[in-house]
Amino acid sequence: MADYAFERINTVDSTNTELKRRINASFGMKTSVLIADEQTAGRGRRGRVWLNTDGALLMSICIPLKGINPDLIPLISLTAAIAANEAITDLRADEHKMTRNTGIKWPNDILISGFKVAGILSEAANDLSGGSYAVVGIGINVNAADIPYGLNQPASSLRLLYNRDFDRISLGLRIADCLTELADMLKAGCDKTIIKLYSDNCITLGRAVEVIRNDGSRYEAEAVEIDSIGRLIVSHEDGNIEAIDSADVSIRWLTEERQEN
Ligand code: BTN
Repeated sequence: MADYAFERINTVDSTNTELKRRINASFGMKTSVLIADEQTAGRGRRGRVWLNTDGALLMSICIPLKGINPDLIPLISLTAAIAANEAITDLRADEHKMTRNTGIKWPNDILISGFKVAGILSEAANDLSGGSYAVVGIGINVNAADIPYGLNQPASSLRLLYNRDFDRISLGLRIADCLTELADMLKAGCDKTIIKLYSDNCITLGRAVEVIRNDGSRYEAEAVEIDSIGRLIVSHEDGNIEAIDSADVSIRWLTEERQEN
C-alpha cells in the first residue's frame, strides 16, 4: 500500500500553486496528494490556462526528490503520464463493449481515440531546508457533459466517451498509488523500465509530427523514440536526428485519427 498524505479541498486557485506554497513554507514534506473540487486559476503547460470542466479530477502530488539520481528527475513527468494512462486504461476493463485506444501523446497528454482527456503539469519546488520536490498536477475531464470551446486541441471527457459517470476520487487515488510506485522505481534506478513502459504506451512514436518551436518556426519530422531523459527523438527528412525537449517545442501530429464511436 502506497504511503502518502491525502487531502480533498473544495476550492483553490490551483492545486499545483497550493502544494508549492505549502512546500515553500515547510521544513520538509512527505509525499502528499491534494484533490480539489474546483480551481479558480488552473494552469496548463507552456503558460496556458487550464479551463475547468464540470466533474473534473483536479489533483497534484508532491514528490520528495531525495534519493532520486538528479539525472533521472526529468523522468518524473513521464511517470505521471504512465500512471494517468494506466488508471484511465483500467477503466476500460469495465467497459466490455468499448474498444477505444488510450495512450500518451508526448510529453504527457492522455488521449482516447484521438481526443485529449488529461493533461499534466510538472513543476519544481524547494522547502525551507533546501529539500527539492516535484509537484505533479494532473487534470482529467471526467464527468463533463460538454467541453469548452477554444481549446488548443480536440478534447473530450470520460463521460462523453463512455456514456457514464466515474468516481473521480478513486481514479485520483489509483493514479497516486501508481505514481508513488513508479517514483520508488526511479529511486531504485529502474529508469530503463520506466522509459520502456512509457514508450510502449506512447502513441506519438512512429508518427509524422510537426515540431513548433517557441519562436513560432515549424518543421516536419518523424517521431522515432524516447531517449534516456525523456526527450523525443525525431528524424528529419535528410536523415538527421534531433532530441526535442518539451520546454522548447510543442508538437502536432500530421496524421490525426479520431474515432467517432
Ligand atoms: C496541460 O495539459 O497543459 C496541463 C494541464 C494540467 C492541469 C492540472 S489541473 C490540476 C493541476 N493544477 C493546475 O493548476 N494545473 C494542474
